[in-house]
Amino acid sequence: MSTPSAVPVTLVQGDITQQSVDAIVNAANSSLLGGGGVDGAIHRRGGPEILAACRELRASRYGKGLRTGQAVATTAGRLDARWVVHTVGPVWSGTEDRTALLESCYREALRVAAELGARTVAFPAVSTGIYGWPMDDGARIAVRTILAEATPPVEEVRFVLFDAQAHLEFRKALAEALG
Ligand code: APR
Repeated sequence: MSTPSAVPVTLVQGDITQQSVDAIVNAANSSLLGGGGVDGAIHRRGGPEILAACRELRASRYGKGLRTGQAVATTAGRLDARWVVHTVGPVWSGTEDRTALLESCYREALRVAAELGARTVAFPAVSTGIYGWPMDDGARIAVRTILAEATPPVEEVRFVLFDAQAHLEFRKALAEALG
């Protein structure tokens, strides 16, 4: 079944910290205090302001950290963006279906970005790195959720894929979803 997208969804192979968009989505962990992968790259290139803002969130609304599937925005520091929207993906499990939590990451991060007035939003392939989610399934969930949820005033959702394999899986998922 073809799912017409109300908002253009684009795929880019590259580094999400190099994107010029309104909001860059971070594949964070519940501590909000940094890590490896996308999280490490965003803090490295974005600079200390981002971590300072995350620490303020931990000292106030998110005393216990950010729950899996939730999203929260901070400054983008030195990145060419207005905000970073941090979301915590589920760790892959072979015995428990955590699809709904991964869907929630995309839905909530997009909602937070849109509420701030973001017109262009860049997403990584959440949970498909250190958290071990298979890329093909992660791509299907990402594309399906964004196609269903993205509406104006958002003008572009850009998936930024770090390597050729991820880019291929997202291309396949997008083609399949658009029929
Ligand atoms: N730009 C775009 N994509 C990237 C980048 C980058 N600079 N760096 C890594 N990726 C890709 C990975 O190849 C993977 O496909 O992002 C996807 C998500 O990988 P991770 O960053 O490892 O995120 P995740 O799998 O959600 O694990 C989150 O890792 O970095 C820690 O603090 C983070 O504990 C949290 C966990």
